[in-house]
Amino acid sequence: MKNDEVYILAIESSCDDTSCAVLKNDAVLANVTANQKIHEQYGGVIPELASRDHQKNIVPVVDAAIQKAGVKISQISAIAFTKGPGLMGSLLVGASFAKSMAMALQIPLIEVNHMQAHILAHFIRENSMELGVGSSVNVTKTTNNELRTPNFPFLCLTVSGGHTQIVKIHSHLDFELLGETIDDAVGEAFDKAAKIIGLPYPGGPMVDKLAQSGNPNKFTFSTPHVNDLNYSFSGIKTSFLYFIQNNVKTNPDFIKENINDICASYQNHLIKVLLHNLEMAAKRHHINDIAISGGVSANSELRKQLMALGEKNKWTVFIPPFEYCTDNAAMIGITAYYKYLKQDFCGLDEVPQARFGL
Ligand code: KG4
Ligand code: ZN
Repeated sequence: MKNDEVYILAIESSCDDTSCAVLKNDAVLANVTANQKIHEQYGGVIPELASRDHQKNIVPVVDAAIQKAGVKISQISAIAFTKGPGLMGSLLVGASFAKSMAMALQIPLIEVNHMQAHILAHFIRENSMELGVGSSVNVTKTTNNELRTPNFPFLCLTVSGGHTQIVKIHSHLDFELLGETIDDAVGEAFDKAAKIIGLPYPGGPMVDKLAQSGNPNKFTFSTPHVNDLNYSFSGIKTSFLYFIQNNVKTNPDFIKENINDICASYQNHLIKVLLHNLEMAAKRHHINDIAISGGVSANSELRKQLMALGEKNKWTVFIPPFEYCTDNAAMIGITAYYKYLKQDFCGLDEVPQARFGL
């Protein structure tokens, strides 16, 4: 095997998606994800059920990724897994599987921070780029299909179901947390509001869809006052709950009659709050390369408003392709690739951490 050919097999299992990717250097050969539908009926992720489903899915998912990548197991240089943050039972399945595989193959093991990985998703090269074949449209690629990556230092707004952070990235493996939520994550604010108005879990994508034909300025919600670059979403969520309860009291059909405007107004409010701090951080740190990542970065209105804000401020904006916004193993693989280059490996005694800072 040539020295410049690093093959990483990466596993992500921090929440309710079982995912495996195979990368050749920074290019994804395969990224296979099994979503767990079982949680929909409960309106949220049930940790015990999540770990059981990971256990069921992990072998077929890893097998499918290896087949799709067209690599031999003997070619794999290292195995990567998500160390945290996440649900302990879920993390343990991926970590144990990765350890067994690394031990059996006698190759290095690499632990990856899930939040760093969401950010480094911006550095994933699709294998089709190497071959010069076009792939899905996204703004992290130029028109000639070359990967356009942020220049260091850049800012990333990481927005997911568990986190909301503004991070300054100094290099591939050097992260500085500038601000974060002091309570709920913005993804939770989407999902819990969606539940209140009877939408299925996870509500974020549905709110996004319904909002597209709604009036974003029809209803207003409370604005949190938080120190500096931090966020707070629990008050907004509570104000949403009271708003719905009060209106339903006077009109039982209020939700049905106004669902598009409710979604559009609430979503617009969350986005305004997110972008306000991001703009403040960019000005304060004199940074013009601005990225978003995490599940909520799939939101169409957030993407639109960020692009508009970028134009106003002369930023270069980076938005990952949809498949690398939500949880996926390709992002674990790209982070592991940079750690591999530094020979940053871990031992078989490495343990997952449910709470794991940047
Ligand atoms: O990053 P992710 O897949 O998992 C975590 O690490 O949490 O993020 C999941 C979150 C969920 O809260 C989901 O509702 C939200 O991302 N989400 C969206 C959209 N797509 C996913 N929220 C708003 N609009 C979307 N289009
Ligand atoms: Zn995530």
